[in-house]
Amino acid sequence: MPYREDRLWLQTDAPYELKCETDLALPPEGYRLSCINGVYSVASADEAGKLYGSYALREKILLGETDFSVTSAPAVSERILNHWDNITGVVERGYSGASLFFQNGNISYDPERIRFYARLLASVGINRICFNNVNVTGRSAKLITGELLPDLAALAEIFRPYHIKIIVAVDFNSPVMLGGLPTSDPLDEGVAVWWRAAADMVYAAIPDLAGFLVKADSEFRAGPAALGRTQADGANVIARALKPHGGKTYWRCFVYNCEQDWRDAQTDRPKAAYDHFQPLDGTFDGNVILQIKYGPSDFQVREPNSPLLGAMRNTAQAIELQITQEYTGQQIDLYALAAQWEEIFTSPVSDTRQTRDLVGREIIAVTAVANTGRDENWTGHTLAQANLYAFGRFAWNPAEKAKDVLNDWIGLTFGTEPQLREPLLNMLLTSRDVYEKYNAPLGVCWMVNIHHHYGPSPEGYEFMKWGTYHRASRTSIGVDRTEKGTGYTAQYHPYLDKLYSDPATCPEEMLLYFHRMPYDYILKSGKTILQHIYDTHFEGVEDVENYIATWISMKPLLPDSAYQSVLERLRRQLDNAKEWRDVINTYFYRLTEIPDEKGRMIYP
Ligand code: GCU
Repeated sequence: MPYREDRLWLQTDAPYELKCETDLALPPEGYRLSCINGVYSVASADEAGKLYGSYALREKILLGETDFSVTSAPAVSERILNHWDNITGVVERGYSGASLFFQNGNISYDPERIRFYARLLASVGINRICFNNVNVTGRSAKLITGELLPDLAALAEIFRPYHIKIIVAVDFNSPVMLGGLPTSDPLDEGVAVWWRAAADMVYAAIPDLAGFLVKADSEFRAGPAALGRTQADGANVIARALKPHGGKTYWRCFVYNCEQDWRDAQTDRPKAAYDHFQPLDGTFDGNVILQIKYGPSDFQVREPNSPLLGAMRNTAQAIELQITQEYTGQQIDLYALAAQWEEIFTSPVSDTRQTRDLVGREIIAVTAVANTGRDENWTGHTLAQANLYAFGRFAWNPAEKAKDVLNDWIGLTFGTEPQLREPLLNMLLTSRDVYEKYNAPLGVCWMVNIHHHYGPSPEGYEFMKWGTYHRASRTSIGVDRTEKGTGYTAQYHPYLDKLYSDPATCPEEMLLYFHRMPYDYILKSGKTILQHIYDTHFEGVEDVENYIATWISMKPLLPDSAYQSVLERLRRQLDNAKEWRDVINTYFYRLTEIPDEKGRMIYP
């Protein structure tokens, strides 16, 4: 499969003289750079620090920077990429072609490309990777058996020199499915013995494996709840099998009722993760990491931070981000996630003012769902490479600024020419807001086409079983999640509960996430909610038209292949933005029969 190395942030090595020193006072994986009399040096306490330091140095050289006196260390020890690759080769929520690792039920890859990929990930500090989907289907359950382990071990070998450890997603029901036991009950001694034997075998083949990742009791996957056991019982039985080898259980918290009756207005999906896990704080073993999606819904365009983040003082946690653009444009529409991540890490959670205050303390790992595949440019949309790069930077340092990260990515990928760098930075930095403008308004969520999640369908999920309702009527829209409604806001610290519970203080972009409001409610801009919806949907289309004009004006400064492929994506984005504008505006106009103040075209 052809692929490109030249149009990525990781360009061919620039030659320079490098001195490496050991300084045991530096933290693990950290480094100190300097340049004295033209000699560059990297000091570190360990080999990983040397690797990261030399990449950081090379970035600075490529960006033409002159100040090399930098000391840096990662905020968390685990910076994890979760691929959702099926063993068939199809990637769940993948928008960049087939799996890099699997084909037709087997592990199958281009070793050169994978070596380059490992280097690419290490260059931004990623140090854990899970190749197979959390939805463990077909033969991928057998990755922990003798049938596929030798191939998995060979793949792990490629990542080892880059200090990247392997995680395997396993099926909770493996003792039954693979071991032929009558039950997977975590309190059954036979089940514990089975997991120990499985772990022993995996570690014999891959001694530095990081651990097992589990999606249990979630979207029809087997789990302990179905057997009358707790999430902690389930996570601990696996953790105890991994412990003698230094391994961990990465246990996902995406547990909710996916067979809800839409008529039931009391069950509120965003409450589910906290309700299931918070009461169990202190009952998880020390080598269990709970993997929590950043928001309480599901990687939506706009939602608050999950109240579960930081709500368990005695439990290790990972925050889970999504690089693959499932709900954020599917690598057709431009959406630089760095802006969203900056906001997530600076937004309050639990009892702190910022998520990033928790990173390194309760949150000991940062995870994200990968956006790469076999496409020549790795990410479908060439500019979506910026999202993979930014993930590494934010996982290393959650205090990063989107502006700096994206500016560096542009400089490394396309060069430091200001005529290109400034307009492109502006496109990337505004792309999140632009997408949100033509999407579901004010935190309402879920107005997407069902199953594939691209394009508008205002009531697509409204009468479904997934717990995804906005309940728009002729006069009002949104869900009251305050104490007068579903009570969701009480899961936050009292100061946040208060902030979100009052429409006057609730951040307006999330108004309809927390409140049910009449369309004529006046926003801070002086506009009604309805007029805001009309205006933003017209603006979103205009913004995409401006992106296209900007991109065309930069043609002489861009490599032709990147220019053409991005232009093609921007044109598809424009079609999508128009579809969203017309469907959403028409939907609200037909419901309310209130015309647009500016008399623009809305379909009666
Ligand atoms: C979303 C997504 C699924 C995925 C799930 C998960 O619901 O649409 O494809 O399996 O999240 O995170 O487990």
